[in-house]
Amino acid sequence: MVDVKKIAVVGSGLMGSGIGQVALMGGYDVVMVDIKQEFVDKGVANIEEGIKKSAEKGKLAEGQSATDVMARCYKSIDLASAVADCDFVIEAVVEKMDVKKDVCKTVIENGPDHIIYASNTSTMSITEIGKDSGAPDRVCGMHFFNPPPLMRLIEVIRSENTSDETFEKAKAVAETFPCLRGDRYIAPVLKDAPGFIVNRMNAPVQIFMSWCFQQAAKKGYDWAQLDADAGGKMPMPPCMLSDYVGLDTMLHTMNYYKETLSEDFEPPEIIVEMVDEGNLGAKTGKGFYDWSQGRNAIKSKIKEAEPAGLFKLTTTFAIMLNEGCRVLDEGIASGYKIIDDANMAGMNAPGPFGWGKRNYEDAAKTLNELADKTGKEYFRPIELLKSGKFTKMRK
Ligand code: 3HC
Repeated sequence: MVDVKKIAVVGSGLMGSGIGQVALMGGYDVVMVDIKQEFVDKGVANIEEGIKKSAEKGKLAEGQSATDVMARCYKSIDLASAVADCDFVIEAVVEKMDVKKDVCKTVIENGPDHIIYASNTSTMSITEIGKDSGAPDRVCGMHFFNPPPLMRLIEVIRSENTSDETFEKAKAVAETFPCLRGDRYIAPVLKDAPGFIVNRMNAPVQIFMSWCFQQAAKKGYDWAQLDADAGGKMPMPPCMLSDYVGLDTMLHTMNYYKETLSEDFEPPEIIVEMVDEGNLGAKTGKGFYDWSQGRNAIKSKIKEAEPAGLFKLTTTFAIMLNEGCRVLDEGIASGYKIIDDANMAGMNAPGPFGWGKRNYEDAAKTLNELADKTGKEYFRPIELLKSGKFTKMRK
């Protein structure tokens, strides 16, 4: 078991508890850490529910009952003492750089000399998180997709300082985390850049969606009508997915891209307003949608809605293709097949390259029209796309 016996998961919210569950199912001892006892208790209760469900379906390792698995789950509200006997830490705390840097430093200072720190940040610089920790070579990224027990992808990210040993070990540990739906897929991220692979490729779709939110509000369309534009072809259409991921996460992410990638990532007013009002999406019961009747009620509403006609899937594919080309251009991923496979494993949706190999000229035209229409220059097609040269690159 790759010399790792005990894992601390720091942050026991939505992502942390999902990560704790897969780590327990992978056979590790796990300590769930948070700042308040009630947060840890809630996270562990979620884990127990998931483990029991998995037991009912025969998804636990042979000979293991839910009670056996939960006996390896510990709780703590004191990070420094919790990591003293851990070999590996996965951090899933709030997306704030100063908080993440503090957590990282505490772990490195109080953990054994071999401890590895992996951040589950969605977008932020791993190099920066580890820089002042005292052992930046033992810091890397391990990015899960929501919900971690059901989504196959884990991106493992190498920072400017991550050692070969840390990177290899983190990939090996990630491989041992089971997935309830299909085989785990580990995507190595070769360069520490905002959003890594999958979030980065989907990032500018948020610019476009922000524009669509404004248009929908202006023209008086219901959010379900906007989601109906996806024609049932996405596992979760944009408004629903934003709610599911969390509008606060989306806001932090867009602000981070605004700082690091382009001014065009200005978050839309509607998201800022909802977050200010404490409506963060599924986790608070309200966002674009009212979640009190469950996900199926929202799906039915979308199915019955008259499409708004504001977006086409081919437009989002063109945007993703352009950003996927940027990911290749910057050396973040080693080939376009990895990018498509990672998107399928992380979002249950096809990546753009399979389509883009045949349609890049149309995509370039769509992107120029979109830049003209929205005034967002970030949409302009880059050279690698326009020239079609990506088709000649390593798969
Ligand atoms: N443990 C055990 N079982 C679980 C479980 C858990 N933690 N969670 C769910 N299950 C079970 C459910 O009980 C259900 O069992 P049943 O079939 O017996 O009823 C089964 O697993 C399937 O669950 P759902 O009914 O919820 O599954 P759906 O078929 O509705 O699919 C979904 C749900 C996989 C989330 C699908 O809607 C989807 O693919 N959505 C897109 C999600 C996505 O894009 N995620 C990525 C977001 S981006 C991100 O995370 C990056 C980050 O940086 C922000």
